[in-house]
Amino acid sequence: MGRKAVVTGVGQYVPPGVLTNKDLEKMVDTSDEWIVTRTGIRERHILGKNLPTSYMGVRAAQMILNEKNIDPLEIDMIVVATVTPDMMFPNTASRIQEKLGAKNAWGMDVNGACTGFIYALATGAMFVESGRYKKVLVIGADKMSSIVDYTDRNNCVLFGDAAAAVLLEPGEERDYGVVDFILKTDGTGGKYLYMPGGGSLHPPSHETVDKKMHFIHQEGRTVFKFAVTEMANVSEEILQKNGLSGTDIKYFIPHQANLRIIDATGKRLGLSDDQVVVNIDRYGNTTAATIPLGLYELYSQNKLQRGDYVLMAAFGAGFTWGSLLLRWAI
Ligand code: UT7
Repeated sequence: MGRKAVVTGVGQYVPPGVLTNKDLEKMVDTSDEWIVTRTGIRERHILGKNLPTSYMGVRAAQMILNEKNIDPLEIDMIVVATVTPDMMFPNTASRIQEKLGAKNAWGMDVNGACTGFIYALATGAMFVESGRYKKVLVIGADKMSSIVDYTDRNNCVLFGDAAAAVLLEPGEERDYGVVDFILKTDGTGGKYLYMPGGGSLHPPSHETVDKKMHFIHQEGRTVFKFAVTEMANVSEEILQKNGLSGTDIKYFIPHQANLRIIDATGKRLGLSDDQVVVNIDRYGNTTAATIPLGLYELYSQNKLQRGDYVLMAAFGAGFTWGSLLLRWAI
């Protein structure tokens, strides 16, 4: 055995439309200064009104297939992390499968909110490690603008739209690829970050629309406190478990929800600024896409070398959180 799931390709799609802090100043009572100092966000990208999440997911996946010259028929499985599926069903993975022409693949969605990509990557890795599949696409994609209330200054400044993806393939070396992960859930945190309407609890009605139940609701300060503590805890836990310390990590890719959470986590892990991947200034919080967007940045700039350890960590609605340790293998 000893088979590992190795990341062999990374792709992204960031929509061209940009929403700046200055634009938001004209929409709600906010300021560029407040947004930058409280969150670190300067601009975010917004997908066209009539385009769904799968549009971005297809393009992120396509980038990998094109670069690696892979026939879509070779793909075995597609895992899509999202909280903004095209529809309640069919799942977004099926829609992406169709548009990619990946006729031999099956697919499913994973709803882990901001931790979605780590959940999905861990899931895809298990199917590769077991020997069951040889080519698994893991996609993090969210059109957050579709569930953001652009009259609510507490939330509308935070989120953006994007997708990014990785390809997992088997590798035969024991300590390379997805080395380990720790996944957590605490349902008692559900009341602090949620979208109440549209599911079976509150099916869509005039009332749910009037009460703005189809938008994100968040008690920011509470989520902030949990995120700061738990992202660092779960990162320390995975390092300890694998006999590593902060200095062994080449890059730390944290979920991008708030620059203050990222800085605090990096500090607690004893990391220097050049170890911590930050792109929140340009994209805001793209939920399931933040971590693979960060990985794409490293990949496309040739910053990753064989043997480098990459640590990922996220925290989000559920509460859900987790960390994943990757050793670059190509
Ligand atoms: O990705 C999933 C997980 N999510 C997170 O990790 C998000 C965690 N939370 C946060 O990042 C922060 O809590 C926020 C960025 C959401 C808010 O920052 P904060 O420093 O916690 O601000 P606050 O909610 O405590 O609000 C402070 C003040 C309030 O005014 P008063 O009550 O002190 O008069 C808010 O009304 O800032 C006000 N405020 C704003 N002012 C200008 C809230 N939003 C804005 C805004 N512009 N956009």
